[in-house]
Amino acid sequence: MEARAAFEALATTEGRQNPYPHYEAIRAHGGLVPVKKGSLVAVGYRECARVLREPALQVQDGTAFDRVYPRWRAHSSVAAFTDSMLYSNPPKHTRHRAMVNADFTVQQVARMRPVVERMTTRLLDRVEKLGAGGAPVNLMDEFASRLPMAVVSEMLGFDTDRQVWFRDVASAIAVSTDGFADPAALAVADTAMDELAAHFGEVIARKRGCPAADLVTSLVRAHDADPGRLSRDELVGNMMLLLTAGFETTAFLLGHAVLLALREPRHADRLRTEEPFAAAYVEEVLRFEPPVHVTSRWAAADLTLFGREVPRGSRVIVILAAGNRDPRRYPRPNRFDPGRPAGQPLSFGGGIHFCLGAALARLEAQIALPMLVRRFPGLRLAGPATYRDRWVIRGLRTLPVALGPHL
Ligand code: HEM
Repeated sequence: MEARAAFEALATTEGRQNPYPHYEAIRAHGGLVPVKKGSLVAVGYRECARVLREPALQVQDGTAFDRVYPRWRAHSSVAAFTDSMLYSNPPKHTRHRAMVNADFTVQQVARMRPVVERMTTRLLDRVEKLGAGGAPVNLMDEFASRLPMAVVSEMLGFDTDRQVWFRDVASAIAVSTDGFADPAALAVADTAMDELAAHFGEVIARKRGCPAADLVTSLVRAHDADPGRLSRDELVGNMMLLLTAGFETTAFLLGHAVLLALREPRHADRLRTEEPFAAAYVEEVLRFEPPVHVTSRWAAADLTLFGREVPRGSRVIVILAAGNRDPRRYPRPNRFDPGRPAGQPLSFGGGIHFCLGAALARLEAQIALPMLVRRFPGLRLAGPATYRDRWVIRGLRTLPVALGPHL
């Protein structure tokens, strides 16, 4: 199959349901392949990793948006992201990232363990009630999508009673990451963003009046001390990013982690009994089913990469999920094998934009998963798991389970 046809198939519902054969079809043409005028796609592990670390390949900031979609400023959901570090290049990116890095180190995040355990217990109690008498429970709605929002809200210092609202608003906003293809979904995302920004305004005022030992308080302090370092729009953009970036992504990691354990009971048994197994298992889930399938970069200068010309202004689409299944990096890549040697999957990106919340997402999954399978040893699928019809951030919509006899 032509690389271009395989790439275009990714935009179809069938392609989104199972993109992996299409990634292979593109990779048959090389690790970095032109797919249309001005666009190349990276599908090899080495090529993806290199693109993410190349300084001349930058994230899509306001200037890049101007070229592809001049009306982006009219969409608050897109504009807010554009003010955040994820859509900023140095020196703005360096400035923003330096304000939050220290809160997300492995050591700092490890202090969240008791919080994650407490919240997991609370959610499992609820799941137990919902599933009493064999009633099926959609674990995506009742567990996987609730835990990340609860944890990040606590870390940021947001109201704990608003978590379900945050989750629903964040889901609506997340569609804007799939681009401008669906105007109706984008309108919903914009309304959700406006509501969230109004709420953030209240939170900012409250943190000023009553500062706390949380991340939002320190960002508000940084803004008040020097708005030139962090403007009001940048403050709101980064609050929005911090609240939303770890929510669907971690929910989808948890969903796949559970689904794969249900399909392979010996893995569920090991998660119950062998403490260190959880870390290796979660790494393989991240490689095999990464929540973020794709990101992209724009060439700020002419360059040549792996023998391909990348002219200034062209776009390089980085398919992280394809790099994670590159057989040159991972032998038998389509086999889920938590015993394979650690191979640094691309799931959290690479280079200066490497995921800020990687340690937090890993911690949540490594704690929640063993707790879930220990609490419900009879856990089983109660119907087909279904996927969302989305590509960029890809994961399950439903994961119906029956709890079975429990401890
Ligand atoms: C960036 C994935 C959880 C906050 C990224 C990127 C990826 C990613 C691939 C880089 C995107 C790019 O280079 O274009 C994931 C996955 C997660 C997860 C798979 C869960 C399994 C989290 C959590 C948080 C978070 C829990 C925070 C609470 C961020 C932020 C950035 C980011 C702030 C932007 C970093 C920068 O631009 O310097 N994430 N993420 N993520 N992530 Fe995550």
